[in-house]
Amino acid sequence: MAPQLRLQFKVAIVTGGASGFGRGIAAKFVDEGAQVIIADLSEETGQAAAAELKCDFVRADVTRRADWEALLQTAVDRFGGLDVVVNNAGTTYANKPTESVTEHDFDMVMNVNVKSVWLSTDVLLPYFLANKRPGCFIQIASTAGVRPRPNLTWYNASKAAIISATKTMAVEYGPKQIRFNSVSPVVGSTGMQVHPSTHAQRASIN
Ligand SMILES: NC(=O)c1ccc[n+]([C@@H]2O[C@H](COP(=O)([O-])OP(=O)(O)OC[C@H]3O[C@@H](n4cnc5c(N)ncnc54)[C@H](O)[C@@H]3O)[C@@H](O)[C@H]2O)c1
Repeated sequence: MAPQLRLQFKVAIVTGGASGFGRGIAAKFVDEGAQVIIADLSEETGQAAAAELKCDFVRADVTRRADWEALLQTAVDRFGGLDVVVNNAGTTYANKPTESVTEHDFDMVMNVNVKSVWLSTDVLLPYFLANKRPGCFIQIASTAGVRPRPNLTWYNASKAAIISATKTMAVEYGPKQIRFNSVSPVVGSTGMQVHPSTHAQRASIN
């Protein structure tokens, strides 16, 4: 008998799915039978990843409400609905003493790492609730949010914020069958670790 695919008939958005952890998450979701929409700022790597993994790509900036609305519309038009959102897109500034952190650095980590998660819920919760459809939000946080390291104060704080918000929403929306979880990786050799300064330049700070 063929093995049961754990995500068969599920539709998932994976933000930041063009590279790094997000790409790995998208690949695993496809393997488990999900229809996956990769949402990423990077058109070129996003298109390439989607073609290789056999999923869809939508160019999106997770800090923009209109892009979340377009992602929901794509999921509904293309696959008939949405079940899972993986809020993986994230960024950091290069390690530096806290007194050297600029307002740009601060806005960038808070917008990309925190505001994006708020926007995802602000746009998508009404959809799940109105359709009485069970939903699942998975936030990619970091051990930095629970065991902060020096020289990354506001990245650490951004991850702590989404861990806390995720716990709050898990309790608030569990009775309505909308689940919230966060996952905290330690370290991975992704673009964020290898080229943190270029990474920051690429990330949007709307
Ligand atoms: N790499 C690590 O060591 C590590 C450790 C703990 C947590 N994390 C978290 O894992 C997540 C993924 O990071 P990664 O290490 O795979 O980095 P990565 O640079 O490989 O991937 C991040 C992806 O997010 C996309 N992105 C950035 N800003 C965006 C925006 N505004 N809108 C849409 N897409 C955007 C980038 O284009 C990129 O494809 C992040 O949330 C990060 O904080 C990483």
